Amino acid sequence: MRSTSASRTRACSGSTPSPTAATSWSPPRRRSSSPTSPRPATTRCRSTCPSSSRVAAASSAAPSSCAPRPSRAEESPVTAVETTTGTAAGTAAEQIADIEAHAAHNYHPLDVVIARGEGAWVTDVDGKRYLDCLAAYSAVNFGHGHPELLAAAHEQLDRLTLTSRAFHHDRMAEFVTELAALAGKDMVVPMNTGAEAVETAIKVARKYAHDVRGIAVPEIIVAGGNFHGRTTTIVSFSDDAVARDGFGPYTPGFVTVPYGDADALASAITENTAAVLLESIQGEAGVVVPPADYFPRVRALTAERGVLLIADEIQSGLGRTGTTFAIEHDGVEPDLYLLGKALGGGIVPVSAVAGNADVLGVLTPGTHGSTFGGNPLAAAVATAVVRLLRTGEYQERSAVLGARLHAGLTGLIGSGVTAVRGRGLWAGVDIDPEVGTARDVALRLLDRGILAKDTHTRTLRLAPPLVISRDEVEWLLRELKAALQG
Ligand SMILES: Cc1ncc(COP(=O)(O)O)c(C=O)c1O
Repeated sequence: MRSTSASRTRACSGSTPSPTAATSWSPPRRRSSSPTSPRPATTRCRSTCPSSSRVAAASSAAPSSCAPRPSRAEESPVTAVETTTGTAAGTAAEQIADIEAHAAHNYHPLDVVIARGEGAWVTDVDGKRYLDCLAAYSAVNFGHGHPELLAAAHEQLDRLTLTSRAFHHDRMAEFVTELAALAGKDMVVPMNTGAEAVETAIKVARKYAHDVRGIAVPEIIVAGGNFHGRTTTIVSFSDDAVARDGFGPYTPGFVTVPYGDADALASAITENTAAVLLESIQGEAGVVVPPADYFPRVRALTAERGVLLIADEIQSGLGRTGTTFAIEHDGVEPDLYLLGKALGGGIVPVSAVAGNADVLGVLTPGTHGSTFGGNPLAAAVATAVVRLLRTGEYQERSAVLGARLHAGLTGLIGSGVTAVRGRGLWAGVDIDPEVGTARDVALRLLDRGILAKDTHTRTLRLAPPLVISRDEVEWLLRELKAALQG
């Protein structure tokens, strides 16, 4: 079962004390010195070092040679001199102008042009370094350029990258077997983006309803405030006007109830209900954690009525909240897990639906597919991701360091913060309107060498890579406190 295997840890043999608290991993590289702030350059035990000691080191308790080890701890994260790429494309301002002119404006990025990433840090085209506290919306859970993930990608790039599913390839067996085992399920459907995993689950739920339960017009219950992606069907059941308006006609067959309200869900279930589709924690809505009894009640209701429970763990899963899947905190096992983002190791888009054969068995040859889904490169990287998660190290880092993050953030309530939500290294921080909008605070953090992003005007979202160190968490908290002061 995934929860127990994922959280298992072992003692590190042959450990050597490390001089200070750990900092996040990053590959060796040249940097300038400055006496002010922590920096992330470290070495890291690469393969067989077990997890417990690394996590202990992350919390400063028992550093060892397996822990990320700081070198030159006084360097500034914001004054590195090593300029990177981008010169051929012009200055940062010129590149932003070109992007504005030639890329459709479906995003509103902060004005920074990133050229390199290492561990929890990125460097812009001018050589300025930033602690990445968004981690590509949790797609970079394992940090930028994790050596084991890069090695898996490089090795596979040189060998075989794409066959389509018309033929088998030699990375598929280990990928599907190991991912299914991590999820505690029989099988997986490999896809690419998160939205494709959601679409796949919707198709599976409808087909299961038609073929197994004889429902002519199946309905799927979703939650208010949901975010499951950007396809026409998915935005059809979004209640975010910006995401939805103007994209009709909309796909029918969805019923919306308030998130976290099990009574409302109970009332909405009918004989036509095929599935309930929920984020285990609502990320885009502002890192909204449902009440403790919500998922246990939803599980009981759905099981009783033969309704599938689909947990969207695309953002919340794969270590982000301190467990492999966020719904583990609720002691609930869904029928289908939706996975994406971090499954691709921040390298390639990889998503999947994990479930048992009685449900996923409704897919038969020709009913569903994707040219790139489960391709050899994706499979090699995702298998390496699953192996990282199997150690339990990242889940534990998130739990230990997340506890510190949340304690520090909670301490800011009343000083520019009105509420803090989340789990593990994932937080939604509501900003006092007196201080400004969440975007204002994100811009102040940008000046201070921290990347973070707002959601819905008032909420600042923090989701650093799980390789962030305790020192860096402390630094983030200090900088946020200063940014809230203006
Ligand atoms: C919970 C959730 N589901 C689905 C998606 C869609 O994933 P993608 O952007 O890879 O299509 C996202 C993206 O943010 C998400 O947070």
